[in-house]
Amino acid sequence: MAKPSFQCLGTSIDVPNVQALAASIANPADVPPRYVRPEAKADPVASDGDSELPVIDFSRLLHHRFSREESAKLHHACVDWGFFQLINHGVPDQATEKMKADIVEFFKLPLEEKKAFAQLPNSLEGYGQAFVVSDDQKLDWADMLTLITRPLQSRNIDLWPAQPLTFRDSLSCYSMELKSVAGTLLEVMAKNLGVAPEEFSTIFQDQPQGVKINYYPPCPRADEVLGLSSHTDGTGLTLLLHVNDVEGLQIRKGGNWFPVKPLPGALTAYIGDIIEILSNGVYKSLEHRAIINLKEDRATVAALHGPREDSVIGPLAEIVKGCKPKYVSMSYGEFMKTYFSTKPEGRRLVESLML
Ligand code: OGA
Ligand code: NI
Repeated sequence: MAKPSFQCLGTSIDVPNVQALAASIANPADVPPRYVRPEAKADPVASDGDSELPVIDFSRLLHHRFSREESAKLHHACVDWGFFQLINHGVPDQATEKMKADIVEFFKLPLEEKKAFAQLPNSLEGYGQAFVVSDDQKLDWADMLTLITRPLQSRNIDLWPAQPLTFRDSLSCYSMELKSVAGTLLEVMAKNLGVAPEEFSTIFQDQPQGVKINYYPPCPRADEVLGLSSHTDGTGLTLLLHVNDVEGLQIRKGGNWFPVKPLPGALTAYIGDIIEILSNGVYKSLEHRAIINLKEDRATVAALHGPREDSVIGPLAEIVKGCKPKYVSMSYGEFMKTYFSTKPEGRRLVESLML
């Protein structure tokens, strides 16, 4: 099989490195206008306690006595929110701590050393940005390192940081742990949706996975820029790790932006467009964004679990037995091309695929 996945998907126009830009400016007036976004503070942000994000206990999903109850809870979390915090996920602390420490070290390296792992022309894999498709669009206040981690033969190891020395090993280990958590969640979701486990396991065969490591520098005009514009994830299931204790993820619910307050040790899990489409809209791919802080930097690792590139993505036959399909079907390759060809705007893409 040819190497997938971020090649041939289009490219991101080269724009300044945000970490270096942030380090070079002292005054709010120095923030270039391309980063200033009126929408950043347009919609109300829900105050604390307005609504509680569901919490799913992974160890209970696996426990013969509690699994039925916890699976039902997971189903409701996917129907009502599409977002949940996952506790007791069983990923060893050591794997997470090594990953976090190496990410912190990587972003501390001088720009030239980080650029040794920069995106190559016509590829979105490596250190750089995504979704910069025109010279006059607004820009996000973030740098990212995007790497394919699975299937193993798809890895482009030359783009995996060689500094710090343990980075590659830490990422391999973290990737394997998360693959196993994602695999179990997908299995339970298939069951909850009334789909034969083989259907999901064929679509997610070999458990394709990529990581997007996001780095958000502080900004003197924090409330007027966005780390990541409002979007949905073009994948099946995302598991997000917070590298430090700084918050910044917000999800859109009922017209408000709802700030996610990660529980200690939890992963933030969310449904992407692909599961929304496969489930014929029973599970929702919720709109979310990342905001920026005035003084503190922030980093996250989004582990993205998607389908095989050649699989056909459309509402599953078993789900649309008694009702009409609500989405068009297309190959995942085609979907990804469309996904990366425009700057994301909330749920616009997934809604454009609705019949
Ligand atoms: C993403 C994402 C949120 C965050 O990478 O797609 O939504 O808080 N990240 O970094
Ligand atoms: Ni996202």
